[in-house]
Amino acid sequence: MKQHQIKFYYKNVTAEVLGAEHGITKEQFNQLAQKTEPLIEQLNADRKAGKACYRDLPYQGKTVEQVKKVAKEFGWCENFVVLGIGGSALGNIALQTALNPYMYNLDDKQRKGPRLFVFDNVDPQQMSSFLDWLVGRLDKTVFNVVSKSGRTAETAAQFLTVCKMLEQKLGKDSLKKHIIATTDLKGGTLRKTASEFGLVSLQVPDDVGGRFSVLSAVGLLSAAVCGIDIEQLLAGAAEMDKKVSQQSFYQNPAAVNAAINWYYYNRGKRISVMMPYSYALKDFADWYRQLWAESLGKAKDLSGKMVSTGPTPVKALGATDQHSQVQLYREGPNDKLFTFLAVEDFDRDVQIGSPPAVAPELGYLANQKMSRLLNSEKIATEYALVANQRPCLTVAFDRISPYTVGQFVYLFEVSASIAGLLFNINAYDQPAVELGKDATLALMGSGDYIELAEKIKPFTEIDSHFII
Ligand code: PA5
Repeated sequence: MKQHQIKFYYKNVTAEVLGAEHGITKEQFNQLAQKTEPLIEQLNADRKAGKACYRDLPYQGKTVEQVKKVAKEFGWCENFVVLGIGGSALGNIALQTALNPYMYNLDDKQRKGPRLFVFDNVDPQQMSSFLDWLVGRLDKTVFNVVSKSGRTAETAAQFLTVCKMLEQKLGKDSLKKHIIATTDLKGGTLRKTASEFGLVSLQVPDDVGGRFSVLSAVGLLSAAVCGIDIEQLLAGAAEMDKKVSQQSFYQNPAAVNAAINWYYYNRGKRISVMMPYSYALKDFADWYRQLWAESLGKAKDLSGKMVSTGPTPVKALGATDQHSQVQLYREGPNDKLFTFLAVEDFDRDVQIGSPPAVAPELGYLANQKMSRLLNSEKIATEYALVANQRPCLTVAFDRISPYTVGQFVYLFEVSASIAGLLFNINAYDQPAVELGKDATLALMGSGDYIELAEKIKPFTEIDSHFII
């Protein structure tokens, strides 16, 4: 069976289309090829040396078996709740939005598994409303607490809240039946707690960072529970692995994508907009935002020099944001690179109705397919942006399927790695996130941060001179 594919299209960044000031000439492309080819080789070598472990996630037969076993064991539930944040949640949300119907949670006929909720915040109002709904359904609910480190404050707070509720309503023994832990194999806090409570657990592979972990047990379990074909997802990623390992720049979509992003950053286009023309793909723009921001936004380069670098990723949605953002995108500063996600063949379509006789001006819509309208809007927006010399890339899905989604995930993960090498920064750490995390623990009274709590004190005192 011929599998569906994604295609990476980059003509609308060329000087041929945009002119020499904003487009990339053939010569500049050849320079980019020369600069990037050794980095492809370096990434391939790093991978062999075990430094880019996410690259091997498409081939984890044992994990797939474990995930499927756990998904089957907990298949009795009607509600599956993921507790996690950042890389331990965004991929789960993106897979669900992409690969299950819009009304999945609300329409039993459209569901292939339990309802899915991914809680990636500690908003008390949101959580209270959710728990009010859930409390009468606890006996039919399973929680998957996902945290690589096991000590992230938000996830820990949700986990402890849920444990308390389960213990109160269903008794202490219920934890085993209702919670699955996905965490580091080493003895982190969640790992220790999981063994204390006797929880079923899955492993986040050692050297895979949160934002690169959607194809590990982190993202696979909720997907499998909700009927998504995880083997096809990994097969798509494996096919993309072949393409993005290719040494030749022009054959390697991740290399071309990374090089275009890096080139434009250095030419003053420091904002990268991802704009899916598909509701199903909208949460991949969120996932991409984290991947790009945490991987590429760095203070120092690999030699320790201060560079404060990194493109700013922005998410948008077509056609919705045509009526919100496109005015700025066309006439505001020419400081953005656009990446559209487009779908050639939608899984389902809608035929538009005919207008009444009094509105003949709407006749052009009569009996047309809605997919034609959405795709025409994508082309029209790109045309309008190009008319103002704004560079545009497109990732076209011939169809949204687990296979093409797996390709997309892998393409952008490797693009982030190659971009990291071009920016000469470490794409796999996130040191700047730590201070805010530590300060939260200090403010919450953690005994490990007494000194920091003292330092923060003056900052917490509101200066009334500045209140209006
Ligand atoms: O990409 C990352 O590493 C982060 O966004 C983490 O995923 C996030 O902070 C959650 O961490 P953890 O899984 O350890 O709870």
